Amino acid sequence: MINKKQKIIIANWKMNPVDLVEAENLIKTVRRGIKKSDDRKVIICPPSIYLSKIKTNSHFDLGIQNIFWEDKGAYTGEVSVLMAKNLDVKYAIVGHSERRLYMKETNEMINAKIVSTLKNNLKVVLCIGESLAEKNKDRASEIIERQIREALKNIKKSQISNLIIAYEPIWAIGTGQTPSQDEVMSMSLFLKKIITNLYDRKTAENLDILYGGSVNSQNALDFVDSTGMNGLLVGGASLNASEFVRIVNLFG
Ligand code: 13P
Repeated sequence: MINKKQKIIIANWKMNPVDLVEAENLIKTVRRGIKKSDDRKVIICPPSIYLSKIKTNSHFDLGIQNIFWEDKGAYTGEVSVLMAKNLDVKYAIVGHSERRLYMKETNEMINAKIVSTLKNNLKVVLCIGESLAEKNKDRASEIIERQIREALKNIKKSQISNLIIAYEPIWAIGTGQTPSQDEVMSMSLFLKKIITNLYDRKTAENLDILYGGSVNSQNALDFVDSTGMNGLLVGGASLNASEFVRIVNLFG
């Protein structure tokens, strides 16, 4: 399957680095290293406390790693879509497995976040994926279908153009273990099928779907194009500026 769409490479720094100077150095090296190219889009998602310190340029956009569903009010510790937009943020990651696990985020909460994010015209990167136990019990498809159906409840077809889905099998995150190209391809087809059933084939065709989990510059190309995925969500490797630059420059 040849996929001619613009590739999307997202850096998810997670809760790193602990030092602002280090974050600024990381972004400086990335900014210098990545070539300008229309073949791919780069999105950097630093911890939200650094967002105001990182200026975007034509080489990359900014994303936030998590967002709250209300616009403002008495929600201690949360950050709203309106606040993120003020800092030139264009994307919000929603439903990352670490938030599902540690913050007990449910599909219902994830849906509320998606509704609010899309309503306020920010793009959503919805993360979905199965655990090792679910995979071993052959329950991956069921789990993923439920994650998507519940996350997209009441989301209209016209809004799906502002959605990206990132398939991140939980067992591949930070472990060095990755699915085979065949497995990634089956998943990309399955995701398109779910979206076709929920909306229609054209919407599914136009949808950007990414792979995430133990991506590095050695394996990055394996997960894109021939698998039907058109980009990557990179965790650990995005904290190493030269490694991340290598990954990005593989795509144009
Ligand atoms: P790693 O690339 O470190 O496996 O993390 C993937 C991830 O969770 C990105 O959101």
